[in-house]
Amino acid sequence: MDKKTVVVGVTGGIACYKAAALCSKLTQRGYNVEVVLTKNATEFIGPHTFESLTHNRAMVDTFDRNFQSHVEHVALADKADALIVAPATANIIAKAAHGIADDMLSTTILACDCPKLIAPAMNTRMYENPVTQDNLATLRRYGWEVIEPASGHLACGTVGKGKMPEPEDLLEAVDHAVRYGKDLQGLKVLVTAGPTQEALDPVRFITNHSTGKMGYEVARAAAARGAQVVLVSGPVSLKPPAYVELVPVTSALEMFEAVKARSAGQDVIIKTAAVADYRPAQVSGEKMKKSGGGLSLALERTDDILGWLGQNRREGQFLCGFSMETENLLENSRAKLAKKNLDMICANSLRQEGAGFGGETNVLTLITRSGEEELPKMSKEDAAHRVLDAVLRERGNG
Ligand code: CTP
Repeated sequence: MDKKTVVVGVTGGIACYKAAALCSKLTQRGYNVEVVLTKNATEFIGPHTFESLTHNRAMVDTFDRNFQSHVEHVALADKADALIVAPATANIIAKAAHGIADDMLSTTILACDCPKLIAPAMNTRMYENPVTQDNLATLRRYGWEVIEPASGHLACGTVGKGKMPEPEDLLEAVDHAVRYGKDLQGLKVLVTAGPTQEALDPVRFITNHSTGKMGYEVARAAAARGAQVVLVSGPVSLKPPAYVELVPVTSALEMFEAVKARSAGQDVIIKTAAVADYRPAQVSGEKMKKSGGGLSLALERTDDILGWLGQNRREGQFLCGFSMETENLLENSRAKLAKKNLDMICANSLRQEGAGFGGETNVLTLITRSGEEELPKMSKEDAAHRVLDAVLRERGNG
């Protein structure tokens, strides 16, 4: 990634301490972070904290004589790829909405034409006040992304809406806004992820080791590149990606119904889910009691969702499967590509170090009808982007 510059505006609220964590996360993620504090913010947290975290001088005031440029707010706005105000008081929201520019942060805001995000954080009544809501609506109209505050315990001692979202959520918002080019803009992408659970009785089920990580990264990456994304997910313990429509399902049958209902409108379908191939032929309504002997379970086949998609695909729709094997990885995966009528299959071997269930990395071979691309071990996030690059290439617009 080219080093992108994110300007972080920090205004005077108790959530200032979380702005330090945000700046740390942005810096670790590879952004050049420039911090502008209002005078009131410095009552809560000092510029040195931000300087230590970002390795850049933090700015406070327009008339500071030590700045390198006499028009520092314009210089800063020129190099900004994104601006985020976090936490944003009702005061800065009002000023930004009305073009009031009377200090370093508000002048920088006015001079910025990059994507702008704002994370309001204040007492619930101040947030819900129609004046604040009108100002936020104005900002949205001017193209700002308003990151809704969370609900919870507030510094004023009450419980309600007005908490600044956690730094990792703000990082996700910045990533989504500027980290990637929007080369999937206009495309509808459906991703399936996670395992399925096939009930035996009200207590037990059959499942597999899938954690959903790969699919969640594909969904997040596609959304960050501008696609409209639906994520049909089996039961996982991951946080749902923002900017993605999540459709939670449990069984293979539910996943099949959810995919069937949405498939016709999709340009690209990527099936990372580890769907059960069999389910108990009979589901007991009551908890099954043990007896002295062994137990045999009768299983029946589930529907092959990807197989169905291959037979019912509409003109121009791109179908991508995933294939996990313990032996004959490439031969078995090539056979699935042909049998299920796919455009691409991403093969990974459970036998390979750094690939497979749960971990942070994967080792994929992308198989299409015309060739194979062997990817080295990489993070699941990077692998997700390589899969999307290949999808674009194969569709002829990458
Ligand atoms: N798949 C599916 N529906 C199923 C089983 C699998 O849509 N009932 C999809 C998976 O989401 C994956 C691909 O098919 O994208 C490959 O799944 P895999 O289980 O590896 O292949 P199978 O066709 O089940 O072959 P086998 O059981 O022989 O390994």
